[in-house]
Amino acid sequence: MTETANPGTFDVTLRENRVFPPSRSFAEKSAYSLSDLQRLRELGARDIEGYWAEAARDLTWFQKWNRILEWQPPFSKWFVGGRINASVNCLDRHLATRPNQAALIWEGEPGECSTFTYAELHRQVENLTAGLRQLGLKAGDRVAIYMPMVPEATVAMLACARGGFTHTVVFGGFSSESLKDRINDAEAKVVITADFGWRKGGRVQLLEQVAAAASFCATLTHAVVLQREHAGQLTPQVRRSFQTRRDLSVLSSLGESKVKKVDWHELMASIDPREVSRLGRPEELDSEHPLFILYTSGTTGKPKGIVHSTGGYLVGALRSTKLVFDLKPTDVYWCTADIGWVTGHSYVVYGPLAVGATVFMYEGAPTTPENDRFWAMIERHRVSILYTAPTAIRAFMRLGDQFPQSRDLSSLRLLGTVGEPINPGAWTWYHDQIGGGRCPIVDTFWQTETGSIVISPIPAETALKPGSATRPLPGYDVEVVDRAGKLVPVGQGGYLVIRKPWPSMARTIHGDPERFKKTYFSDFENGVYFTGDGARKDADGYIWCLGRVDDVLNVAGHRLGTMEVESALVSHPKVAEAAVVGRADDIKGQGIVAFVTLKKEFSVADRDLKSVQDELRNHVVKEIGAIARPDEIRLTDGLPKTRSGKIMRRLLRELATHGKVQGDVTTLEDLNVIAALQQSSDDEG
Ligand code: WTA
Repeated sequence: MTETANPGTFDVTLRENRVFPPSRSFAEKSAYSLSDLQRLRELGARDIEGYWAEAARDLTWFQKWNRILEWQPPFSKWFVGGRINASVNCLDRHLATRPNQAALIWEGEPGECSTFTYAELHRQVENLTAGLRQLGLKAGDRVAIYMPMVPEATVAMLACARGGFTHTVVFGGFSSESLKDRINDAEAKVVITADFGWRKGGRVQLLEQVAAAASFCATLTHAVVLQREHAGQLTPQVRRSFQTRRDLSVLSSLGESKVKKVDWHELMASIDPREVSRLGRPEELDSEHPLFILYTSGTTGKPKGIVHSTGGYLVGALRSTKLVFDLKPTDVYWCTADIGWVTGHSYVVYGPLAVGATVFMYEGAPTTPENDRFWAMIERHRVSILYTAPTAIRAFMRLGDQFPQSRDLSSLRLLGTVGEPINPGAWTWYHDQIGGGRCPIVDTFWQTETGSIVISPIPAETALKPGSATRPLPGYDVEVVDRAGKLVPVGQGGYLVIRKPWPSMARTIHGDPERFKKTYFSDFENGVYFTGDGARKDADGYIWCLGRVDDVLNVAGHRLGTMEVESALVSHPKVAEAAVVGRADDIKGQGIVAFVTLKKEFSVADRDLKSVQDELRNHVVKEIGAIARPDEIRLTDGLPKTRSGKIMRRLLRELATHGKVQGDVTTLEDLNVIAALQQSSDDEG
């Protein structure tokens, strides 16, 4: 397998026999009747293109497509010749039907609340589009977004979409190094950021990170900076004071760099209000116009810039949102993902706003100021749909039942999970403690590359089995196969593949179409897409995801390449070699264990072991961000390698998990190394 996929052995021991019948209350109120759903399933199975063309008609197009699909594996074009704008579909088209409905309800971590109606959000977005155009941006240019979870983050994404500026959102927890790499790879001209954001009662200094990166970003001309204290305000004080200033003469340079710094509200106010609609008009974009690039981890040290289209992506986001979440104007829908991840793109912004739903958004940590913050917000805003990650559920479980129990969660009617397999224990807790036993749970399987949900229950129709994402949605040809691409027998583990193209699939890796082909389409023939995951199918056709089979970790629902962490470690002057593996973790799913060999001249005496470990940990945080901080660093004299020089990760994984190595080690070059590693784990244990 490419990108060092490791077939390993599949753990198919997980057995869960409970079956929860589909929700009657959903079936009664669903926008799709059971016979509609049956028809969609049949159409999806018989005529995939026809199915998706029907879904595409739910969107507003400036010009209809003349061909549904052009497929030259691995490259696809959907709705060829169609012209469309994502922000029009998320905003303008709702102005006639629901201008005063809340599009966004927001809470900042310190407790501010604000609401943007569809009319207000629309106005903000066109104003910012006009402002960005004034900075010289044109359709096709790239913009980086590095923001806290404030309404302006959504405004920024939609304003980019409106002008045809391809956005690349960088998670606010990434370091200046990661930000710099992404800005440079995308050749972004503008970065939109905030001076800081709130997290666990502290300030995350975003602007400082931008300033540190700016001097090394040759393509960057401007940084648009939101002052966090004005987040969520339509007409803050500052706006009034700058109202008379119609030029941006106040631009100053950012740090040492030549990048010009411009205040968000000044930029907004620099547009004559009578000209906002004209200057902020939507671009009529080709269906294949790149809406965004989102970087995600693979099995090399360099993250991949996954490119998504406009038309096909929106079709996938909208259709899945409708089927899986069944959103109504009466719902308050909350997806807890950060906009820095794909879930934040498809299910905080594009999907729900394309439906015309009311989205709740929260800035900060789940336990600030108290352990019941999530549940207090659900009570306060009468949230009816909650979509979150198994990691969060397990963390809440550990905190104790008293926190959700002390709050009124009766507004909830549907729960969802994403990002990693959910263990039946966490599923049951979520179902009983949060859902009060009455809310169906949609366990949704998908990826940055798929753009939208691929496998998930449809709550009105699908019986649930805790731990299974159940069946593929209509329009997806998903299978579990062996290395030769043959279907594996029921119950056996294999590789999870998608055999036919779908509209919201990634179009390429930015600047590296070869890597796109090699990573996803070279393991199997005939344009079959390989997810990188293992799975098994049961007798009912339900799919049970078994986790990644390549060197990609899933830490607290975040994808992280082992090579990425290794590259960060070896960039430290003391490090000669490093190998990183995952170890099962009760809360995070996987934890990070690094085996590190120091350069000879730095061999550590035992007494400063801890300080070296801390130094290396901090170095990884500086290079990548806090999400990559290793849980454990083991210093060793050498790493176990095969005769051909490959690091034997299987052995390291065993060592990291059990502290001991079993199995075949005959290809090892130097058995002493294993003995020494085992010794060091015995010492620690
Ligand atoms: C894993 C997140 C089991 C899987 C949307 C996949 C899951 C990777 C599930 C993608 C699920 C996601 N059950 N595993 N419901 N959802 N995964 O790109 O390993 O951040 O390949 O996209 O998360 O992670 P990504």
